[in-house]
Amino acid sequence: MLVTDTEFVQGFIRLTDDAFRKGWHERNGGNLSYRIKDEEIEAVKDQLAQPKEWLPIGVSVPNLANEYFLVTGTGRYMRNVILKPEENIGIAKIDAKGENYAVVWGLTVGHHPTSEFPTHLMNHSIKKELTNGVNRVIYHAHPTNIIALTFVLPLNDKEFTHELWEMATEDPVIFPEGIGVVPWMVPGGSEIAKATSKLMQKYNIVVWAHHGMFCSGKDFDEAFGLMDTAEKAAEICVKVRSMGGKKQTISDQNFRDLARDFKINLNEDFLD
Ligand code: 13P
Ligand code: ZN
Repeated sequence: MLVTDTEFVQGFIRLTDDAFRKGWHERNGGNLSYRIKDEEIEAVKDQLAQPKEWLPIGVSVPNLANEYFLVTGTGRYMRNVILKPEENIGIAKIDAKGENYAVVWGLTVGHHPTSEFPTHLMNHSIKKELTNGVNRVIYHAHPTNIIALTFVLPLNDKEFTHELWEMATEDPVIFPEGIGVVPWMVPGGSEIAKATSKLMQKYNIVVWAHHGMFCSGKDFDEAFGLMDTAEKAAEICVKVRSMGGKKQTISDQNFRDLARDFKINLNEDFLD
């Protein structure tokens, strides 16, 4: 079967197309990566090139040694992935030390994975360990309302999370552990990768102030669903503030009642 016809590549492409239509991916904004399963890579082995050029990741991820990742290319547009997957996405293999990568399929234009590959791989490394290998997707987008809120909400995990939990009753059920916030930093390097992965130890959603958001998930549905849910909460928040602000809201006691009945472990640090 052709790489582009496989279920995992089709799932990847569907996310990029859905997400572009959401308005989260202006120009080349945002990027996506998927840690490929052994049986999936085995099924397309005949179409992969031998690793030629090994390039430094910029961070060390030993528990990802010899893994394969499907990833969007740097400078490539999400809206074009569905039209020409081989030009815009590719498969990268990690070396035996977890310090270098080589492209073995795709990325025929541009040739390199996203500039946020260090953040993607550090997040994959953390999540692989924490979930015993279940987590496979890391997703970065530029959703409008989340970015807007980073100009008005305090940039700390507690206040950002609490405000978004209040915006829809089921939001605390979707992200009970909360949301991490990285202050403004230069994107595309190892420093922001380290700051993000530290928060990914605790959360599945991390906001980058004045830039966008990272989400993790076991599959494309889960990562996309988290992005969608957090961005919708942010949209409600922007509307509420535009209408003069809250006149009533969900109380901390309401949250505790919800947690009890839905049997979720709501992060108590974020309640008073
Ligand atoms: P890339 O084109 O390198 O993926 O960069 C887009 C982006 O959103 C950087 O944060
Ligand atoms: Zn970005």
